[in-house]
Amino acid sequence: MTTILGISALDKNVTAALVVDGQIVRVVMEERLTRVKQQSGFPARAVETIFRETGLSPRDVDLVTYPFFDWRGEGREKLAGYLADLATVRHQLDDPPGWLRHQAYYLGWLALTTWSHRHWNVALMRGLRACELDRVPIVRLPHHATHAASAYFCSAFDRALVATFDWYGSGLGGSIWLGDRGRMRLLKRVPYPHSLGLFYAQVTRALGFRWSRHEGRVVGLAAFGDAGLLLPQVLRRFQRSEGDFRFLRAMDFHVAPRLAARYRREDVAAAYQAALETIVVDMLRPYVRQHGISNVVLAGGVAANVKLNQRVHEMDGIEGTFIHPAMGDDGTGVGGALYWLSKRNGTLAPRPLQHVFLGNSLDRREIEASLRSSGLPFEHVPDIERRVAELLAEGKVVGRVTGASEYGPRALGHRSILCSAADPSVNHWLNARLGRSEFMPFAPITLFEDGDRCYQRVAGAEHAARFMTITFDCTAEMRRLAPAAIHVDGTARPQLVERDISPGLYALLEEYRRLTGRSSLINTSFNMHEEPIVATAADAIQTFVQGGLDYLAIDQWLIGMGDRDA
Ligand SMILES: [Fe+2]
Repeated sequence: MTTILGISALDKNVTAALVVDGQIVRVVMEERLTRVKQQSGFPARAVETIFRETGLSPRDVDLVTYPFFDWRGEGREKLAGYLADLATVRHQLDDPPGWLRHQAYYLGWLALTTWSHRHWNVALMRGLRACELDRVPIVRLPHHATHAASAYFCSAFDRALVATFDWYGSGLGGSIWLGDRGRMRLLKRVPYPHSLGLFYAQVTRALGFRWSRHEGRVVGLAAFGDAGLLLPQVLRRFQRSEGDFRFLRAMDFHVAPRLAARYRREDVAAAYQAALETIVVDMLRPYVRQHGISNVVLAGGVAANVKLNQRVHEMDGIEGTFIHPAMGDDGTGVGGALYWLSKRNGTLAPRPLQHVFLGNSLDRREIEASLRSSGLPFEHVPDIERRVAELLAEGKVVGRVTGASEYGPRALGHRSILCSAADPSVNHWLNARLGRSEFMPFAPITLFEDGDRCYQRVAGAEHAARFMTITFDCTAEMRRLAPAAIHVDGTARPQLVERDISPGLYALLEEYRRLTGRSSLINTSFNMHEEPIVATAADAIQTFVQGGLDYLAIDQWLIGMGDRDA
């Protein structure tokens, strides 16, 4: 038996993953426990939670994996990338001021990230020591290999093209691999600074959002714009060839703000989104053709772009698409453990990830204590799914908390807010209640069997759709029955709910369909704006009150608002 603790990158959204003999047993996100969004640093509480809930101890861990080299190794990779970029100076000098800005930012970035990698190294060693894991061997792995492994080894495909794109990791902004019969072979390195994560982050900031956090808002905004207006201009930043691209003057951070100052932000967003899709699809196409592959799996922060994922799924020759549900660096703990196992064994059969209910569990005593101290009226309801379905059919907004929390950015029914998708104004009033300002509509949950009636070209992406990682064009029936869950461009990002995977949520949705004739509901994450998704019953009650929701179902307990508003 091999027990691996995969620690994800410490700089953002840190997680701890327990993988035993290739089986993902637990993945706990530190932010859920500390209540700090995108928590950085060593995931001490996550590690402690894993040991407490599994009954294991540090002595049972055989190996710790970490998805970066040490700071010297990362420094060498970064320097090599910088020198290679410097060698292409002739191609970049059509805008000398831009190139000088690129140089200045690049050197600053080298210094800053070398310092931060050193800082995280120290934090990692201290954290391991504090958790009594300092005697366990630690293996440092190339960052993009861990992303790639998270996608391939959790997919249902024996043979797939594996593509990773993020901002930066171990000298790369991306990579392409061939996953075949349990082995991954590197086909292409995309050296930094040719980074699509960096490219998209620049427009995110230029449009007034926080980069590395609010990229999804740009995706939402893009649907309102005219991509054609600025696309040629944006694509001029790239030197493109068959299966490759170079991002020229990548660190000239003035380009996106200049466009944002002169043009409608929707058009700027649309051009960047279209450019991203064009570059990724052009890059993957020759590999798909050359290797005769019909499946693509994706990971890395850029794969959080659900519209990009749809575009990849719709590529000629592609039949199957999967995206690791925690596609960002939160997935590199799982990916690191799986990658190491595949290297040690020589092969590791992909094992389709069934669900992401791998986080911290609910504690019955904590539920009962929180209910008693809340002062809110509550009752025990044995058939809670039926009761919640009735409330939703009456138009109520219900928080649902049950079992283990989700691993990854999406709430998939265990820490969710549910409401009817029939009224398009839901986007406005629910956002107002939760203090959010999103451009994307809320995402729907839909009974798996009704997937094809509601969405187009689902075939081959069913597994991805279990985790809300891809959009689809909606059918006329979906537009009629669940308009609140559909974006202005006619797409939606559903979670298809299967009976075997989520029996409680399935029963609830089935009862809702019986009562209303609709097989979709809105499912949004259970949190106030900019807060992590709730973890415990106490968190849920607090957010329930703060957000003014109508009801809260925690396991079989139903909580109402009582006379709070009286
Ligand atoms: Fe990454």
